[in-house]
Amino acid sequence: MNEDIINLKNEAFAQINTVKSIDELEEIRIAYLGRNGKLTNLIKKIKDLPPEKRSQTGLLINETKKNIENLLNDKRQNLIKSLTEKREWFDLTLPGTKPEMGHKHPLKEVLEEVKDIFKYLGYQVAEGPEIESDYYNFEALNIPKDHPARDTQMTFYLENGKILRTQTSAMQVRVMEKTKPPFRVLVPGRNFRFEQVDASHGFEFWQVEGFAVDKNIRFTDLLGTISFVLKSLFGKETKLRFATTNFPFVEPGVDTYLQCTICHGKGCAFCKNTGWSEIMPAGMIHPDVLKKGKIDPKKWQGFAFAIGLSRIVNLRYGINDLRILTTPDLRILSQF
Ligand code: DAH
Repeated sequence: MNEDIINLKNEAFAQINTVKSIDELEEIRIAYLGRNGKLTNLIKKIKDLPPEKRSQTGLLINETKKNIENLLNDKRQNLIKSLTEKREWFDLTLPGTKPEMGHKHPLKEVLEEVKDIFKYLGYQVAEGPEIESDYYNFEALNIPKDHPARDTQMTFYLENGKILRTQTSAMQVRVMEKTKPPFRVLVPGRNFRFEQVDASHGFEFWQVEGFAVDKNIRFTDLLGTISFVLKSLFGKETKLRFATTNFPFVEPGVDTYLQCTICHGKGCAFCKNTGWSEIMPAGMIHPDVLKKGKIDPKKWQGFAFAIGLSRIVNLRYGINDLRILTTPDLRILSQF
C-alpha cells in the first residue's frame, strides 16, 4: 500500500503542476482529497491492514495529504497572482514610434539659400583655405604690415608663419590670379578672429564673400545686387540703409545696414540699441587689388561684398546671441 500512496502523490503533483486555472485545481483537489477522492479511499482502507502496519501507513498518508494540500495552496496563490497581474498588451493598431530625424544646421540651411540666390545671378561658388598666408589675407588686399586695418582684425598666428584667415576676402586675389575676367564668384567660409566673445562677436564666424569683375561695372550695380539679395532673403519690405565706410581693398566702400528684425528698429542688445544691424559691407574693388590679381584695372572693374552669414541666421530666426550657432548642443539646435 505504501507504494500506492507514493505513486498517488507523484501523480497528484504532476497534475497540479501543469494546471492552468483555479477550476481545474479544484477538480484535482476533489479527485484526490474529496469525499470519494483517491487518497480518501486509501485512508478508508487502513482499517483493513494488519494492526502493526496501520500507524506507519496512517502517518505516510497524513504526510502525503499535507504535501498535496500545500502544493494546491501554493499553486492557487500563484494562479491568483498571475491573473491579477497587469498584462502588457501589444496593440497592433497603434502607430509606430517615429524615428528621430536629423536636420540641417541653420547656418547650412541659410547658406544654401544664399548660394541659390547668387547662382540665379550667375555666381560660381569657390572655397578657400582656412589656414591662409599673410599675403592673401592682408598684403594683397592693400593691408601691409603696419596698416591700422590690421588692428580691427585681431589675428591668430600659427607657428608655421601662416594665419587663420580673418576674412574670406582672402580669396579675391587667389581667384583673380587663376581666372580670366569676366567672373562672378561667391566664397562662403569660416573666419577666425581673436575677439572678446559676446552676443554679436565670436572668435569664429561665417562669411560669404562675393565679387564680380567685368567691363563697365558700376557702383549702382553693386547697390542693386545688395538690395536684390537682402530682399530675397528677408522679404520685399526689408528696410536697408547705406553708409560710406573704408576698407583698404575697396574704393569707395559702403556699409549696408538692415533694419534689425529682432527689435524692428526699436533697439536691442543685438543691434547695440541702434535699430540697425550691419550686415553687408561692400565696395568697388581697388585698382591695386586688381593689379595684384594680374587684372588690368583700365580694362576691368569690379565690386566686392561680404555677408555676415551668422548674422543673417540670427536675424532670420530671431536669435539674439551669436554663440548659440557654434554651440554643439542638440537641445538648442533641434529647435530650429
Ligand atoms: N572682409 C571684410 C571684413 O571681414 C568685409 C568686407 C568689406 C568684404 C568690404 C568686402 C568688402 O568684400 O568689399 O571685415
